[in-house]
Amino acid sequence: MIPMLDLKLQHAMLREEIDAAISGVLASTQFIQGENVREFEAEAAEYLGVRHALSCNSGSDALHLALRACNIGPGDEVITTPFSFAAAAEAIGHVGATAVFVDIDPHTFNITAASIEPAITDRTRAILPVHLFGQAADMEAICELAGRHELRVIEDCAQSFGARSNGTPTGGMGDAGCFSFFPSKNLGGYGDGGLFTTNSDLLAEHFSLLKNHGSPIRNRHQVLGWNSRLDELQAAVLRVKLRHLDAFNRKRIDAATRYTRGLEALPVQTPQPPGDLSHVFHQYTLLSPKRDAIIERLQQAQIGHAVYYPQPLPSQQAFSGISRSLELRHTEATCRQCLSLPMFPEISKTQIETVVGMIQQAHGG
Ligand SMILES: Cc1ncc(COP(=O)(O)O)c(C=O)c1O
Repeated sequence: MIPMLDLKLQHAMLREEIDAAISGVLASTQFIQGENVREFEAEAAEYLGVRHALSCNSGSDALHLALRACNIGPGDEVITTPFSFAAAAEAIGHVGATAVFVDIDPHTFNITAASIEPAITDRTRAILPVHLFGQAADMEAICELAGRHELRVIEDCAQSFGARSNGTPTGGMGDAGCFSFFPSKNLGGYGDGGLFTTNSDLLAEHFSLLKNHGSPIRNRHQVLGWNSRLDELQAAVLRVKLRHLDAFNRKRIDAATRYTRGLEALPVQTPQPPGDLSHVFHQYTLLSPKRDAIIERLQQAQIGHAVYYPQPLPSQQAFSGISRSLELRHTEATCRQCLSLPMFPEISKTQIETVVGMIQQAHGG
């Protein structure tokens, strides 16, 4: 039996460091807005090479409040991907803007400057690319396009902590980056958490107000805000895990390389990251016209797997009436053929060989 994700191995390896970090918070009884949050924000900003890193409750909150910080609202259009988790499109809907879905590149699974450009209208205010599965989108091209049309760029980096686009960490090239610390993510907490990054002092100030009841100082409420805070326990855990992130990402990349070599001779499309756009393999996702046969074989062998994502977002009921779409040929084909395999830094060589063996068997090998 091979799980899709095994968090226990990593916890066992980090147990002493995590226990010490958590004990420190418990002893301090400073559970909200303390030293760990301040230090984690500074350490994350340094790692990502950004001026500001502001923590919050979740990746979904980071996206929602980032759009609000950019003053995006009713009547505005935001161009985004139809092939992702729902949070980004949901955030666009929550601020009252229209999500405009454009097609993905079938090899990187990301939207591109070429797919975005035809969707730009005089109502477009922002582009919201997702660095899906840990594969960095081409930010240089997207930011150049955005610059020509005076559009904001908000990066969804929920799955891409540590990936680099044209040499720059994701979350550092657009106007804002939004990260998730959901436990399964490359930098995962022990509960919910999120991060907003920016190089703009103004956006940082606005985001900071919004996540803290619109309150710049105690008992003064300048705008209507929210309560969206990372707590000290999560920040303490994340500080430990940030120190190991590069090593964990390298292990994910090694595991991906093993999968790709093992699957080379089969008629499946494996991830091939373009040279200047790195991939940190939050997921290892292949395309196969024989997906159902592969799933059946993996199920028989009790091997974890997942279809990320089975349906283009615009065909989900939640987005009907609040979005529009261009032609989504590649997205639709990808939804029919995508399959994600077990992936976590500690996955063993033998486990990978077993998964590959089952996929070979599904092809009659
Ligand atoms: C691509 C993407 N965006 C946004 C989110 C939302 O993050 P969170 O679960 O922290 O709200 C997730 C994760 O679940 C995600 O995978």
